[in-house]
Amino acid sequence: MRVFNYGSLNLDYVYRVSHMVRGGETLAAAGMEIYLGGKGLNQSVALARAGVPVCHAGCVGEDGHVLTQYLDSQGVDTSLIRTINGKSGHTIIQVDDRAQNAILVYGGANHKQTREQIRQTLDTSNPGDILMLQNEINESVYLMEEAKRRGLRLVVNPSPMDEQIRHAPLETADYILINETEGNAISGQREASAILDWFSVHSPKTAVLLTLGEAGAVYQDGKGRIAQKAFSVVAVDTTAAGDTFTGYFVAGLVRGMEMEEILRQCAAASALAVTRNGAAPSIPSKEEVDRFLTGR
Ligand code: RIB
Repeated sequence: MRVFNYGSLNLDYVYRVSHMVRGGETLAAAGMEIYLGGKGLNQSVALARAGVPVCHAGCVGEDGHVLTQYLDSQGVDTSLIRTINGKSGHTIIQVDDRAQNAILVYGGANHKQTREQIRQTLDTSNPGDILMLQNEINESVYLMEEAKRRGLRLVVNPSPMDEQIRHAPLETADYILINETEGNAISGQREASAILDWFSVHSPKTAVLLTLGEAGAVYQDGKGRIAQKAFSVVAVDTTAAGDTFTGYFVAGLVRGMEMEEILRQCAAASALAVTRNGAAPSIPSKEEVDRFLTGR
């Protein structure tokens, strides 16, 4: 079974701020760094650091060599990434004193996927392979339809939430990974248990992983629910914590691990990620995760 991740690649311009800048306000940043990120890229890096081979598909612009080179250096297969005219995706990220972020995303090359490219990419897959999707590229819905037509296992992280993904055939996903905001936008429910109840009625074949920030996460499938607590750490930057969770989740599925153990590894990996700055560079290796979990 192979894992394909059709997703975004971004250059993240990250600014340290005392608080998120408000409309009409000019605010001096205390620091600035450029990191490699994008929900797609981060999730591929998480899989690779968890020790599971992944093939990343998508588009970068003329300035995107650094993104593909970085994925190469992490052991990710980049043969399905295309370079197109124009700029790569990028973000402006503010990280405040409480380690929270606010992200402005410019799609750039991430929004230039063509249906022909998608078909050619998926032609290299076989039934039973996994396709991972987020919502930072165009043609997410087409990708979902093609994945199902070809008998792929679909793992969807509908982030960031927008109208297109809200009305996408999410019930065709084998696994959906959401936070409370996304769960609320899809189901109209506020409480975690009500969100999960909604999915068991409206999307009974989809296993759901609902992340709850400091309250941990809950996994639900046809057999029931499993709760996972978050590990307590001192956070400096929460960017890519969710992507780390997703990548380690898929890595656990590929390895055929028990769900309790998968969730423990995901929680540990994302706890480590928030103790470090940046998106992709904050994602820990499997060895670091194992060490963190020893004796806990
Ligand atoms: O999930 C974190 C990612 O979201 C960042 O790396 C940024 O690129 C945005 O897409």
